[in-house]
Amino acid sequence: MCGVLNMEHTGEQVVLNGWVARQRRLGGLIFVDLRDKTGIVQITFDDTVPAEVFDKAQGLRSEYVIGVKGTVRERSSKNPDLPTGDIEVLASDMVIYSEADTPPIYIKDDDNVDDNLRLKYRYLDLRKLKMQRNLTFRHKVTKLARDYFDENGFTEVETPMLVRSTPEGARDYLVPSRVNPGQFYALPQSPQLFKQLLMVGGTDRYMQIVKCFRDEDLRADRQPEFTQIDLEMSFVDVDDVIAIQEGFLKRLFSELMGVEIQTPLPRMSWTEAMERYGSDKPDTRFGFELKKLNDVEAVKNSEFQVFSNALAGGGDVRGICIDGGSPVFSRKELDKVLDQAKAFGARGIVWIRVEENGFKSSVNKFFNEEQLGQIAAVFGAKSGDLILICADRSKVCFDSLGFLRRDIAGRMGLLDSKQFNLLWVTDFPMFEEDEETGERKAMHHPFTHPKDEDIPMLDTDPMAVKADAYDIVLNGVELGGGSIRIHDRNLQQKMFDILGISKEESQRKFGFLLEAFRYGTPPHGGLAYGLDRLVMLLTGEPSIREVMAFPKNQNAQCLVSDAPNTVDDQQLEELHIRLRD
Ligand code: AMO
Repeated sequence: MCGVLNMEHTGEQVVLNGWVARQRRLGGLIFVDLRDKTGIVQITFDDTVPAEVFDKAQGLRSEYVIGVKGTVRERSSKNPDLPTGDIEVLASDMVIYSEADTPPIYIKDDDNVDDNLRLKYRYLDLRKLKMQRNLTFRHKVTKLARDYFDENGFTEVETPMLVRSTPEGARDYLVPSRVNPGQFYALPQSPQLFKQLLMVGGTDRYMQIVKCFRDEDLRADRQPEFTQIDLEMSFVDVDDVIAIQEGFLKRLFSELMGVEIQTPLPRMSWTEAMERYGSDKPDTRFGFELKKLNDVEAVKNSEFQVFSNALAGGGDVRGICIDGGSPVFSRKELDKVLDQAKAFGARGIVWIRVEENGFKSSVNKFFNEEQLGQIAAVFGAKSGDLILICADRSKVCFDSLGFLRRDIAGRMGLLDSKQFNLLWVTDFPMFEEDEETGERKAMHHPFTHPKDEDIPMLDTDPMAVKADAYDIVLNGVELGGGSIRIHDRNLQQKMFDILGISKEESQRKFGFLLEAFRYGTPPHGGLAYGLDRLVMLLTGEPSIREVMAFPKNQNAQCLVSDAPNTVDDQQLEELHIRLRD
């Protein structure tokens, strides 16, 4: 292959196939940069090749596909920028397999071309060495996962793609049934119910590298169609599941990244993660931890209405301290940065600049130096630091400060993509309130087992019940999540009751699972990683699109094949579907 040749191969005869990255003529010589998925190597044609081959070489243009026979030799002028730059291949023969029109995008790793153009011509985009490296790396991750879990007694089982809706909280992609008029399959949001049925079926340890489908808003780390490394185990508790996963992560980092991670990994309860980082997926690569200021004298007795109203309404006053952050942001820049908190419901963020001899703040009118000093003392703030405060419902405080601490760390260049901070977040609340409807819903999913000691509270104080659920977090991204499941039919039914899912509805949607639980169910639990996110973080890419061969664009379209699209009337008719105007 082109990219692997080096000085050790000098004198060897080679046959290379690939794409012309560049062709140029210099006097009696023709140089061709030949590219395949491993890299680029220089081919040289001189007067030792037959005249008709030289002529053909002269007509080569970018992206022609050719085969070359030749001999590896040391270059007279080396190119230190190219891994193969010490050598070249002196051609003796060449065939042109196909010619190429001028490509609509440059085949260059750092080309700043429009994303939609890249996605439309993805097959050209994939010729970039970076894209090939990413796909190869992804392949290595899936291979290592299969090997590791195989060695640990897991069986890879395929679960169906045409299923009944699974409750993972997103909208379903529906598929109409031709033979069952008026009925629809859903594409699975995850194999959750089937992997639990596999445990009832005695599979004991299951794994699958599996496509999941969720119709939700797209983001850098979200695609409508993505891949999970999905796992389930019987006769396990939280520690068993975590131990197996840590073995996997340790091996993954060691073999593919050359990084030795220390296990057991840190664990942090959900409550601690929220209190300290304002997030259930804390990025622990840097500080700026949240502090609660409710009890600070100056805050408690403040006449500043933003603070007093928040406290009177049962909310909080919380803040972060950006070490050395004050000189980094001008007044104007700071306003722009803080304005982003509005997206999380914050009406405003108070700022305090700590200076050599005093404070400058957005609330100088309401607080004297001594009072600002009390606040600064909570953070142990020193000159040059920047304190940011949010007074609101605790969720708004967490969300906005959690966002700002990471956003500002990014702006200050503190997010080192070579540092990998893995941790488990555990003890999630069982339930949460839906932001839009205010209805109670399962934070993970309704099959999650409550913590044993909290089961009595299901009747008295369900919102305080914690679950045997855990997420694995890497550098502020949720890599995966899972839980121990309920394997008791009555407890499962109770869960549905608390969630306000009627007997009739739970029978209709999950009756098959409840029925399965009647016939002998092992205690079980598992987890699923987002494969795309895992590969994105390990390759240091900013989006999961960079590690998927054919991702969807911002509007959930596949631009290569132009999907979704209209279909023939006849197809609709067969599917018993009539479109509204
Ligand atoms: P969950 O819904 O947390 O759990 O999903 C598991 C992991 O899948 C990844 N992920 C996504 N990746 C890309 N695009 C998306 N739209 C997307 N949605 C989720 C995340 C996430 O952590 N059945 C449970 C797992 C279990 O309980 O065993 C489940 O699917 O990395």
